[in-house]
Amino acid sequence: MWAVNTTELATTPDTRARTIVVLASGQGSLLKAIAAGAGDSYTVGAVVCDRHCPAADWAAGQGLPCFVVGLAPGADRAEWNRRLAETVAAVEPDLVVSAGFMKILGPEFIDRFHGSILNTHPALLPSFPGAHAVADALAYGVTVTGCTVHEIDEGVDTGRIVAQVAVPVLPGDSQEVLHERIKVEERALIVTVLQAADPMHPTITG
Ligand code: GRF
Repeated sequence: MWAVNTTELATTPDTRARTIVVLASGQGSLLKAIAAGAGDSYTVGAVVCDRHCPAADWAAGQGLPCFVVGLAPGADRAEWNRRLAETVAAVEPDLVVSAGFMKILGPEFIDRFHGSILNTHPALLPSFPGAHAVADALAYGVTVTGCTVHEIDEGVDTGRIVAQVAVPVLPGDSQEVLHERIKVEERALIVTVLQAADPMHPTITG
């Protein structure tokens, strides 16, 4: 019979790099920053996209495992969520990061990875949830907006807030200019969170 030293098991810290799966739909600048920040704390196990996009092309060009799980117009969304979950689960990730993924994840996906899915959003939640956060913030006339990393739950950008950074709105800002200023902070913030000892509950200072 094997003898197991339970004291050692209980006290030895887990120093293994976490495996993360990145979900993306667009240009992939967040994905690139996440990949550049990989190292001792995490590795990118795969990139999963809902469409052919620059993020998918870049991942494939880097030799990262990349899967496109498309949702045809009118197709069964629950079935798509299950296919997406199967694809992600095959990588056995410790963490799933939605980084510019432009589809809402359903319960068939969320239940599978409950408590280990993060999203990055280009506004200071709970203000301006949804797909038009930057335009909505500009239209409202706020002078400060920002970005939020939050846990994904079944609402639209309603999950527990994990980390935030404020970004000024400057006179004359267009949506594009403001979004790019936010994305500079978004890229840094998601990497900081992922490199934390406990990315779901990071201690971020400064
Ligand atoms: C980010 O601002 C993200 O929060 C939003 O879309 C943008 C993605 O940018 N949902 P990119 O494709 O990673 O460059």
